[in-house]
Amino acid sequence: MRWAVLVGGTGSNLLAMLQADVPVSLVISHRREVPALAIAAHHKIVAHVLDAKAIRDRERYDEELRNLLTAHQIEAIAMAGYMRWLTEKTVKAYRGRVVNVHPSLLPAFPGLHAVDQAYRHGVRWTGVTIHFVDEGQDTGPIIMQMPVPIRPGESLESLEAKIHAAEHRLYPEIVWALERGWIHMSSGGEVLWDLSQKEVESWMHGLYSV
Ligand code: GRF
Repeated sequence: MRWAVLVGGTGSNLLAMLQADVPVSLVISHRREVPALAIAAHHKIVAHVLDAKAIRDRERYDEELRNLLTAHQIEAIAMAGYMRWLTEKTVKAYRGRVVNVHPSLLPAFPGLHAVDQAYRHGVRWTGVTIHFVDEGQDTGPIIMQMPVPIRPGESLESLEAKIHAAEHRLYPEIVWALERGWIHMSSGGEVLWDLSQKEVESWMHGLYSV
C-alpha cells in the first residue's frame, strides 16, 4: 500500500517507520520547519507542508489534504504527531485506513499532554495505544496497546522516554500488520484479525518480548 505519514513535530515515529522499511510515499506536516521534515528529506521521501496557520478553515484545510493524498495515490494514513483532528469528510474517505498513535492507554487520558496527565494522576501503569481514527477525538477502535509502568519516584522525563520507546516498537509493527492485511476495521467499527489465534499469540509474544 502507499502510506502517507502525517506529522507535526519531532518525527521520531516517522523515523521508526522508515527504519522498519514501512513503504512511506508521502509525508505531510501541519507545521513548517519541524524536525520531521528533515527526517523525510534525509530519506528522500516527498514531503509537503500544509500550514495550519495559513489555512484556518478546517474544511478547506482538509480539502487540500485530501487533494494531496489523492494526487499521491495514498491508500493508507498513519498519524504521528499530527496535532489536528481530521474532518468528518476525510475520516469518511479513508475509513478503516487511518491510524493514530496516542501516548496513553485509551480511553484513559485522551487529548493533549497525555503523558503528563497520567503522571500527575499518579497511575502506576500507562502506555501507548494504536487505534483507527474515527470522527471523535482519540475515540476510534483500539487495535493494540503497550503498557508502560510508572515506578515510584520516577521522573516525567524518564516516563516520556519509555513511552516513546514503546511507540517506536509498537507503531511500525501495527502498520506492517495492516500492510499485510492482518487487521481490518469492519463497517460497524470492529477490529478484525485475519490470523488464527495461534498466529496472533505468537506475533504478540514477539512484540512484547523486548
Ligand atoms: C507521540 O508521542 C505521539 O504519541 C503523539 O505525538 C508524539 C509524536 O512524536 N501523538 P513524534 O513527532 O513522532 O516524535
